[in-house]
Amino acid sequence: MYKLGDVVVGRDEIRKKAVLGLAARINEDYAGKEVTVIGVLKGAMIFLSDLVRELEMPVCIDFIVVSSYGVETETSGVVLLVKDIDSDIEGKHVLIVEDMIDTGVTLKYLKELFESRKPATLKVCAAFDKPERRKVDLSADYAGIRLADDFVVGYGLDFANMYRNLPDLRALAEDSGAKE
Ligand code: PRP
Repeated sequence: MYKLGDVVVGRDEIRKKAVLGLAARINEDYAGKEVTVIGVLKGAMIFLSDLVRELEMPVCIDFIVVSSYGVETETSGVVLLVKDIDSDIEGKHVLIVEDMIDTGVTLKYLKELFESRKPATLKVCAAFDKPERRKVDLSADYAGIRLADDFVVGYGLDFANMYRNLPDLRALAEDSGAKE
């Protein structure tokens, strides 16, 4: 059994560092260009919704659905493509938007998949980053908030598909069942 623990990163810090901080850098780097933003569902839905409303260039939005965690807290290491994007990204400036880069296994899969479709540029933006957990040597071009190796939920991140709606990032602690 698990129960919600402390707030690890509050909503104000998420907005300031991940949403506004990264949007400002993206606005500068892509000024005058059209960007195809690809959200990686389900986790990226909240961050993408906040981020794209701060972008000032023309933006196309598409989604891809992949999964490697299932209902576990550890990645299976195998990425399943559940639903591909609908758009043709050849010659486009593509920005992958993730909630979290953890082992990097999902990002490696996505970068290889999209590179094979010949975009003009391909970059990655992630709200949260756990660099100490990397199994493959990849990083986000735009990384918001660095996290330690603790399991967290909220702001799109789930446990067994729950808690994504929480506005703050919260710890998920083991519940001993003892009364407090
Ligand atoms: C999460 C998260 C990333 C991925 C990161 O997705 O949204 O896509 O794991 O982990 P990695 O760097 O170890 O590959 P998940 O597979 O849990 O699916 P979800 O987005 O539906 O929660």
